[in-house]
Amino acid sequence: MVQIILVLILAYLLGSIPSGLIIGKVFYKTDIREHGSGNLGGTNTFRTLGVKAGLVVTLSDILKGTLAASLPVLFNLDINPLLAGVFAVIGHTYPIFAGFRGGKAVATSGGVLLFCAPLMFFTLLLAFFISLYITKYVSLASMIAGITAVLFAIITGFIRDWDIPLLVVVFLLASFVIYRHRTNIKRIINKTEPKIKWL
Ligand code: G3P
Repeated sequence: MVQIILVLILAYLLGSIPSGLIIGKVFYKTDIREHGSGNLGGTNTFRTLGVKAGLVVTLSDILKGTLAASLPVLFNLDINPLLAGVFAVIGHTYPIFAGFRGGKAVATSGGVLLFCAPLMFFTLLLAFFISLYITKYVSLASMIAGITAVLFAIITGFIRDWDIPLLVVVFLLASFVIYRHRTNIKRIINKTEPKIKWL
């Protein structure tokens, strides 16, 4: 039991590593939370610091989720890796190392699914890029990717077998992602949400 609690704390701390803040402050002397959308995530890093920094931060945020979800397997613990993944997503969103002002849960949730349900991850990645190509809104594409993950879990449940923990976690993560995008939703409705220009 103690081991499980320690691994969940470790997953939270891993998720709390504020890659956007570290890359921004160390290499660009910039706190990205004072620019653009104010979000501590890959998209705002792209927007504020450019492609190179944006890619590094996005990949780091994905990696945090993947590593955290792999902790129960690494430590041979009898818990679902999704649970450790959820703690990493909480860390990424409310990071203890960055005043609890973190990201919007997208990349780290994706990293968790990359480890726990790779086929679902690549399906939602495809849905993300198709939506981004059509709408040019990263925020909307992120929410559509979340909804795709839920649909994927339901459809594979009907076709093969039901993975209830995965379905529940994916539903909770997708709902959380939408909740974290509530200001983006208002901006999309008001037509003030910035569109990407490079796709
Ligand atoms: O992953 C976050 C993205 O969907 C939206 O970011 O900075 O445009 O609010 P941002």
